[in-house]
Amino acid sequence: MPGHTIVTMPGDGIGRIVLNESLRVLDAAGFSAEYVHADIGWEFWKKEGNPLPQRTVDLIRKYKTGLFGAITSKPKEEAANELNPELRDKGYVYSSPIVGLRQLFNLDVSIRPCKTYKGNPLNFIRRGKNGAIEEPEVDVVIFRQNTEGLYSGVEWTNPPDKVYEAFLTHPRFKKNFGQVPREELSISTRIYTYKATRRILEAAFRYARNNGYRSVTLAEKPNVIRETSGMMYRLAREIQAGQYPDIELWNTNIDAQMMWLTKNPEHYGVIVAGNMFGDIVSDGFAGLIGGLGFACSAQFNDEGIGIFEPTHGSAPKYAGYPVSIVNPIAMIESACMMLDFLGEKETATRIRKAIATVIAEGKVRTYDMLKLSGSPAVINRGAASTQQMTDAIIEKL
Ligand code: NAI
Ligand code: MG
Repeated sequence: MPGHTIVTMPGDGIGRIVLNESLRVLDAAGFSAEYVHADIGWEFWKKEGNPLPQRTVDLIRKYKTGLFGAITSKPKEEAANELNPELRDKGYVYSSPIVGLRQLFNLDVSIRPCKTYKGNPLNFIRRGKNGAIEEPEVDVVIFRQNTEGLYSGVEWTNPPDKVYEAFLTHPRFKKNFGQVPREELSISTRIYTYKATRRILEAAFRYARNNGYRSVTLAEKPNVIRETSGMMYRLAREIQAGQYPDIELWNTNIDAQMMWLTKNPEHYGVIVAGNMFGDIVSDGFAGLIGGLGFACSAQFNDEGIGIFEPTHGSAPKYAGYPVSIVNPIAMIESACMMLDFLGEKETATRIRKAIATVIAEGKVRTYDMLKLSGSPAVINRGAASTQQMTDAIIEKL
């Protein structure tokens, strides 16, 4: 059977640990692929002054599918101080390689599923009628626009002449900010384009239809942010009416959505939002299903490139433990999303069932699932190691 070729980017800290665990699971599930290692992260910043070497970019462009662990990022000054001495003061400026990947490949569609596993002690619970404890089953998939909006980096403090003058032409700017000394003004723009907004909306509706969800919820703020959120809502209505009359469009305000997700999270299916609101709402839902040990993600562009990663970072303080304690499930779930992308849905389903069985049985639990605070001692207090959790999943396959 001709295998796939996958670019593996372990990165830093626990990224290296969990990525390797996900490969063990893929192997055990009979997934056939060739893995090509690619350098990314702190080590390459220090050694080469570039955490995202060109050779890594070339590999992704060539093979199109990337499995990513996590990287360590640090503020600019700290980063500059950690450069190898011969590279210092040569004009190298640190920037996050994962943000770099998003921009370079225009990975504009980000997907973050948040599904409850039965028996996970970290599941959200609430008090129901008569004080009964209820455990709603969350099954939400968040579509986050990944490249524009408030995170696009078009911003100024003490804006230059032409920008300032342009802003002054807006009556509200003039009235409310026209008297503020220019050097005391910080401006971050929120830019939405029709093309990218349409793409994230269409991806959300398509996913809803293909996966049996009855609704798509737009979580923005069109009543206040009239231009960007307003445009997104208008396009959402157009797309729904024109192509997806079988799927309901719900419109919620992001602030109210954050309240409702702790009241009735089971009511929501597919959620779609711009960059920052998508970031916020996906962390909110991830908290209901177990947090960082369970939160997986995928990001795509319109040329068939997909990169799959847990949403957690490199957790450096846990990276050097003699026995690793971190939960590999977020990474293994991300690998399952990669399998979906590669058309290997059956294998993905088997792995997800194996994870579900291990969690439901409750015999093997990492420290986060036992609500312990992380330290090497958790192993002696009954927590499974990273490898033991992976082994348990493999055993169920
Ligand atoms: P983090 O996600 O690395 O860790 C925060 C805390 O979450 C950990 O101390 C641990 O208690 C818990 N945690 C994380 N992953 C876990 C897992 N798999 N199992 C169990 N518990 C887990 O975030 P933090 O500490 O803010 O950042 C550490 C470094 O990672 C920084 O350099 C940051 O810039 C970077 N980072 C990288 C990301 C990426 O590569 N996509 C995302 C977020 C942070
Ligand atoms: Mg986030």
